[in-house]
Amino acid sequence: MKETFIEIEGLKKYFPLKGGSRRKRVYTKAVDDINLSIKRGEVLGVVGESGSGKTTLAKMLLGLLPPTEGKIVAGGVNVCDKKNRREVSHLAGAVFQDPASSLNPRFTIYKTLERPLRINGIGKEEARQRIYETIDRVKLGREMLTRFPHELSGGQQQRVSIARAILLKPKLLVLDEPTSALDVSVQAQTLNELLSLQEADELTYLFITHNLSVVRYVSDRICVMYGGQVMEIGKTKDVYENGLHPYTKSLLASVPPTHPKERKKKNLLTEKSAAFGDNAPDLSSISSGCIFQDRCKLCQEICKKQRPVLEECGEDHFIACHLKDSLKAGEEGKF
Ligand SMILES: Nc1ncnc2c1ncn2[C@@H]1O[C@H](COP(=O)(O)OP(=O)(O)OP(=O)(O)O)[C@@H](O)[C@H]1O
Ligand SMILES: [Mg+2]
Repeated sequence: MKETFIEIEGLKKYFPLKGGSRRKRVYTKAVDDINLSIKRGEVLGVVGESGSGKTTLAKMLLGLLPPTEGKIVAGGVNVCDKKNRREVSHLAGAVFQDPASSLNPRFTIYKTLERPLRINGIGKEEARQRIYETIDRVKLGREMLTRFPHELSGGQQQRVSIARAILLKPKLLVLDEPTSALDVSVQAQTLNELLSLQEADELTYLFITHNLSVVRYVSDRICVMYGGQVMEIGKTKDVYENGLHPYTKSLLASVPPTHPKERKKKNLLTEKSAAFGDNAPDLSSISSGCIFQDRCKLCQEICKKQRPVLEECGEDHFIACHLKDSLKAGEEGKF
């Protein structure tokens, strides 16, 4: 694969919580010391349950949220510097989960697409050409351009969001649950079209999803987040088939198998692991050690004292776990 396109170093976002005293402020550590590099043309899938910091990471990558600490450089641009906002808007496009709320209900689709072009100094005629070209690429009929968002289906609205994201010919797309709000019947089609765009333009994708089957289908590498931290990262096949971190394993155990017989077997596991709850776990009581300690069946004394760092456990495969060597040797039974 190609050269590094995005470099994320020591990235943190702490949100002050209400109720902390002035002397002792309490924070939600939405993103807590993330170091990542993403290659040009790579699809990095980001998974993790609700509250693990995926959207916060996405917003910082888009320059929409300033980090508390750390830095992000994408395509040579310091994304965190406000002065680079215009450059970042050319560099990166975004697609969010709910297309209806990200489109202005009072604007026709044409106006929705024309605005970012005009704001970026593109003349009326060139903008028209670009809109036609883009709307064709996302396979929406041109008759949609005169309509308002409420006159479109969810799938069509999401195509408009995708069109808007690629209008300025970005190098990077940040996709935050882009298909989860869609009907199952249009999900696969939308995913395939996103992948075609990625290939055709050699785009770099940060693809966030709750859905492990989706992430397996689209990603070159998978990054598993928990409590604002990266627990495991590696090539899709390695993480999916040989995920080592206890958290990754519990996530994988919660994926429903396709075969009904397997599903029956797996239900037992899913009940125990219950990895994907809808409510974010309360991690504020964990002040030292591994962030996953209170849910980890293998938790040892060291896990309560020292935060594990990401360490290589295979080729291009890293986990943050004190028990890395034992897990690698398949010896988790000894704990
Ligand atoms: N603006 C904010 N102010 C205070 N806390 C915030 C803010 N945004 C996010 N948080 C908190 O930061 C943590 C991470 O939130 P984030 O939205 O990044 O999670 P997520 O992984 O995207 O979850 P989901 O899968 O539900 O979308 C959560 O505990 C959330 O409550
Ligand atoms: Mg989110």
